[in-house]
Amino acid sequence: MILSDKAYAKINISLDIIEKMSNGYHSLKTIMQSINLYDDITIKCTKGAGIKINTDVPYIPDDERNIAVKTTKAFYEYTGITGYHTNIKISKNIPICAGLGGGSADAACVLRILNILHKTELSTKTLEDIGASVGSDVPFCVSGGTKLSEGRGEILTDLPSTPHCYVVVCKPPFSLSTPEVFSKVDVKKIRMKPDTDGILKALELGELKSIARRMYNVFEDIITRGKIEIETIKGTLLDNGALSALMTGSGPTVYGIFDEINKAQNAYSHLRGSYKECFLTETI
Ligand code: C5P
Repeated sequence: MILSDKAYAKINISLDIIEKMSNGYHSLKTIMQSINLYDDITIKCTKGAGIKINTDVPYIPDDERNIAVKTTKAFYEYTGITGYHTNIKISKNIPICAGLGGGSADAACVLRILNILHKTELSTKTLEDIGASVGSDVPFCVSGGTKLSEGRGEILTDLPSTPHCYVVVCKPPFSLSTPEVFSKVDVKKIRMKPDTDGILKALELGELKSIARRMYNVFEDIITRGKIEIETIKGTLLDNGALSALMTGSGPTVYGIFDEINKAQNAYSHLRGSYKECFLTETI
């Protein structure tokens, strides 16, 4: 049995941190959006035992530390299925440790594929619950689109789709560790907040410019490393006509949204000379 699927990256249209919970995680209120930038995943299940993973990025762990392996184990534990050797092949396009949810997208894609290969017919909610046990952004990535994500990422509300727009994604040449960035959060010191309710209203009305005006990510005020470079990329995106430019997740990737392809192309041309991990994509 063999099946392939695409694991789509996400951007955070807004990201607010509400509180630090007693379990050490932070409760968030974030609007997430899938974009047409994806990893390709193929899974082959044959009679036997064990999980094997191949990726085209040498420094991604190929053992139990890999989120796709953890997810596969969680799926088999939940379903009680045994007697299969599972071979996972991942072709990475989504930058790693970037705030684009690449690992979470892969995990969610693994769940969708295994659910089909093994004809288990688990509901989206069940896949989200299994996904939540391996990573906070995995539940969103199970079906993606445009969603409000709350709590640790397990409380999801479907939203009207973001009006179609072009998205230029640019990762500076350094990575930020999510746990490290979260460890710097002091909720009482957060000065600026996104207008989440305003964005929700603008989504209802389908007004892209109104969404763009209200986009904000509280992590932009929390990170210390690479701030100047992040601001420079945002400046380039805005100078080339982005309606808004924002850091995604816990960073450091920056994206700009555009209502016209030629402006997005200009921004992309300006950035890709300096940044290897730069993409011109769109909302899906
Ligand atoms: O769930 P995930 O593995 O993506 O989280 C990585 C780390 O980020 C957690 O160990 C935690 O330190 C932090 N985190 C958090 N609150 C969240 C999500 C992540 O504090 N809602």
